[in-house]
Amino acid sequence: MSDNTDTDADQEPQKDPAATDQTADAAPADAPPGGGRLAWISLALVLVGAAILLYASGFHLDAERKSVFQSTTSKPADTPSIGGPFTLVDQDGKTVTDKDYRGKFLLIYFGYTFCPDVCPTTLTDMSDTLDLLGADADKVTPMLITIDPERDTPEHLKEYATYFHPRMRALTGTLAQITAAAKAYRVYFAKAKMEEGSEPDDYLMDHSSVTYLMGPDGAFRLHFTHGTDAETMAARIREIL
Ligand code: NI
Repeated sequence: MSDNTDTDADQEPQKDPAATDQTADAAPADAPPGGGRLAWISLALVLVGAAILLYASGFHLDAERKSVFQSTTSKPADTPSIGGPFTLVDQDGKTVTDKDYRGKFLLIYFGYTFCPDVCPTTLTDMSDTLDLLGADADKVTPMLITIDPERDTPEHLKEYATYFHPRMRALTGTLAQITAAAKAYRVYFAKAKMEEGSEPDDYLMDHSSVTYLMGPDGAFRLHFTHGTDAETMAARIREIL
């Protein structure tokens, strides 16, 4: 049985050389001088193909090397240089700097008190997070930095902050001070386009909604994107407290 199949298999390929021979015979008959040229063109095509393949594989290697290079060099940049020195004014009207808050973790959010939904939601999540941390919450200072210094005076912030947490620090400052702090934390903010006929004071702010956890040394530890629930935040903070 197996011998038979072997023979069958051996016989099959023999048909192919015959077929090629036939076409090879036919070609010179149609165009005798072209046969040689066709062979040269085929060879040239094969060489060009090989060259393209070599070039492509070389290029690919290059690209890989480049990406490895990029990923290693971008590591320091990836470890986000978030945070840095700031000088602002707290809710008691006192000028403060980042150094005044060393020794405790800082849970920082940039927002504004006139925000209709996003900011109060985030600040509620922040205070819920502290509640979930229980006794460990003492190691964390919750902080709101306003991106609307025009309306968020220290007095206004003081009242607002107490809605969320008794220990919440709420900082404002000059527009230049706020801009510098926001830049250090890579926070975007801008006055939103106002609706026609609205009062000059009645504007909304566009702003990034990210919560940062900074270490007692002032260095960046974690960030939470908008909408991260309190349970998740508390769990991740507890891991590094
Ligand atoms: Ni907001």
